[in-house]
Amino acid sequence: MFTEALIKDGLQTFFMGQCGIFIYDEIKSTNDIAYMLAEKSSPEGTIVIAESQSGGRGRRGRKWISFPGQSLSFSVILKPEIPIESAAGITLVMAVSLSDTLHDFSVHKHSIKWPNDILINSKKISGILTELKTASGRIDFIIAGTGINIGTIKNLLPPELHGIASSIYDETGIIINRINFMQKLLLNIENRYKEFISSGLEGIISSWKENSDMAGKRVSVTNADGVIEGTVTGINESGSLVLETGQGRLEIISGEVSIL
Ligand code: BTN
Repeated sequence: MFTEALIKDGLQTFFMGQCGIFIYDEIKSTNDIAYMLAEKSSPEGTIVIAESQSGGRGRRGRKWISFPGQSLSFSVILKPEIPIESAAGITLVMAVSLSDTLHDFSVHKHSIKWPNDILINSKKISGILTELKTASGRIDFIIAGTGINIGTIKNLLPPELHGIASSIYDETGIIINRINFMQKLLLNIENRYKEFISSGLEGIISSWKENSDMAGKRVSVTNADGVIEGTVTGINESGSLVLETGQGRLEIISGEVSIL
């Protein structure tokens, strides 16, 4: 069970989670609550956590299922003073922070799938949903929502997710205390976020590459422009996916990737 006191006890961050941690048994979506709190001027680093979400959201209108007692579902309010065009970097910051945290718990065998998934044995164990509010041409705030399946979920997964989604425990047998994971993750998010704001994406992208096995894979990417097939060569300096296609080199800003 999460309590604010348990999370704050031993939390080594400077601001992440230090001001407000809002904890719910069940709500619609932590992103919605964090958005509402940010609109009411809650400070950067405010966290919303839920055991269960009745309307948990993934990217592209998909549903996200939280497994009470087994997953970690939370959203953090960020207020970066960066141009709107740089906001996509936050998704990479979150993905690399998750990867850092997995290494901290000796879960070395994982892969970041562009732009926002973490896979173990090709099954998704974590996803990130970043939402942005702009005002007068600048970022008002960003809500970075993250779901991670930590404990066992194999007997709880709906049949359509078998072979697609999983958890750290189910894929590796490694037992992780969710509060310890949350504390380390908040510290890693804070450090990577500070790095992003002060030095840009260079270090984050190099860590992304070290922890992704997408390079060289044939993929199809679906986005507003349609479906594009190609071979991944990497990500560029702003975090776009770079593909070698029949029509030459393409840089993809957003989209849904299927590995072929
Ligand atoms: C995805 O993989 O498409 C993104 C999944 C993001 C899920 C998290 S759980 C906490 C936060 N609240 C939500 O409703 N979604 C995000």
